[in-house]
Amino acid sequence: MNKRNDNLLLAAGALGLIGGYAVGKMLSKPARSATPGDTLPTAGVLDTLALAVDVFAPTFAKGVIIRRPGAEAVAERLDLDRRAVQRMQKLRNKYGPGPLMLPLPLRKQAVVFAPEHVRRVLDESPEPFATASSEKRAALSHFEPQGVLVSHGPERADRRRFNEAVLESDRAVHHMAERFLPLVDEEAGRILAAARDKGELDWDTFSQGWYRLARRVVFGDGASDDLELHDLTVALRKAANWAFLHPKKRATQARFFARIKHYLERAEPGSLAAVIARTPITAATLPHQQVPQWLFAFDAAGMTTFRALALLATHPQQAAQARKEIRNKPGIGRKHLPFLRATVLESLRLWPTTPAILRQTTRATAWEQGTMPAKTGVLLFAPFFHRDDQRLPYANRFAPEVWLEERQDEWPLIPFSGGPATCPAKNLVLMLTSAMLAALIDGRAPRLVSDNPLDPVRLPGSLNNFSLRFAAG
Ligand code: HEM
Repeated sequence: MNKRNDNLLLAAGALGLIGGYAVGKMLSKPARSATPGDTLPTAGVLDTLALAVDVFAPTFAKGVIIRRPGAEAVAERLDLDRRAVQRMQKLRNKYGPGPLMLPLPLRKQAVVFAPEHVRRVLDESPEPFATASSEKRAALSHFEPQGVLVSHGPERADRRRFNEAVLESDRAVHHMAERFLPLVDEEAGRILAAARDKGELDWDTFSQGWYRLARRVVFGDGASDDLELHDLTVALRKAANWAFLHPKKRATQARFFARIKHYLERAEPGSLAAVIARTPITAATLPHQQVPQWLFAFDAAGMTTFRALALLATHPQQAAQARKEIRNKPGIGRKHLPFLRATVLESLRLWPTTPAILRQTTRATAWEQGTMPAKTGVLLFAPFFHRDDQRLPYANRFAPEVWLEERQDEWPLIPFSGGPATCPAKNLVLMLTSAMLAALIDGRAPRLVSDNPLDPVRLPGSLNNFSLRFAAG
């Protein structure tokens, strides 16, 4: 999709929501305060419209399942994510701790503002706050209809156990680190060589190496150059961006699953596919339905790494600290790099790759301010909690120390979500991304040469990874 289409899409997303809202306006009741035992406070018409325009429309237009570069560029130029945070702050200040119900026409929807409510929703997932919300099911049905994220009940428990076992969620360092870390170095070497040839390091160069790394980690070297698999994934994810508005690409999906099954049957030693082959499964597990989430989510990890490189390029003192951490630590010595892991987490705090964490209630739930009905969609908007400058002194600056110090507060920084549905690959991701960053800055100071320099004093609400460019060498 070209830039013009992307801009149109952004506008169309906003207009669609506004149009949808006009119907809601007719059906909604005026704003009011609720008393305990009553239904929760409900936003007024204009506030809901403003939330649709400032929060929902840009999130949808940028692409929920695969990012649209043109829309990302518009978001960066207009600093739309900062506007989204400011809108949320206004609503929190006006309506109090919530949760706040939105009078939408076709759906019961709540927005969460209070830290303790975030913790409750995450801790009490998947019952009564199911991960398998209607919109997620509609989107993910394009490429992983039986993935853990959109499963519920005993099937979800089975698939979650499988994901945790293979990705080794509870270990800071995956037992395959000795195999994976040299792969990171190899791919970083290729990326840097390609950047030297090109004269600069841009997203295309970086992402090609990053996707190769992802395929080697998940399926083994036999999949390194499987660009067809990449293209199939992209085609299905583009359809998934439109959720139920896009017809299913049945033939593409069949080819996609056939390819994944082929690699899982091969179970190449030294890959996650080999770990899968050794992991007990049941008839419900369906490993080929779990793996698509991994391929898809590696994209987020690449974007995060590239943005983290931009942070280091614009913060020489922290870059020097990072280089100190990696000095005399080649290969496997880089399995645990606390400062670089904190840098990656900061990249995610500032620009979360899952801005909207969604749940759907399976029954009515009681809150201090009233009752939330069953089948209500619940939105945890991560940028609001990560960048709330009315509460966080470090909201708009690079502050890796936040992740290194024992945190005293209970403020929800949730780039990997939290509770029983938290990202099961968090530790694997932090290991691979921090090792990639280490390889990219080892012996060189990264220098940003993009048109849009980063202001370290007030970091932007949106950072378009597609337009970042660094000096080569
Ligand atoms: C920077 C990279 C990543 C980030 C920020 C991230 C973040 C997240 C978040 C926020 C969720 C939870 C969504 C929710 O609560 O509804 C999630 C779920 C999940 N992630 Fe990640 N993820 C990343 C990379 C990965 C990778 C590389 C894999 C696999 C190799 C992975 C596997 C999963 C799976 C399987 C789930 C579903 C968990 C469940 O429903 O129980 N993620 N991730």
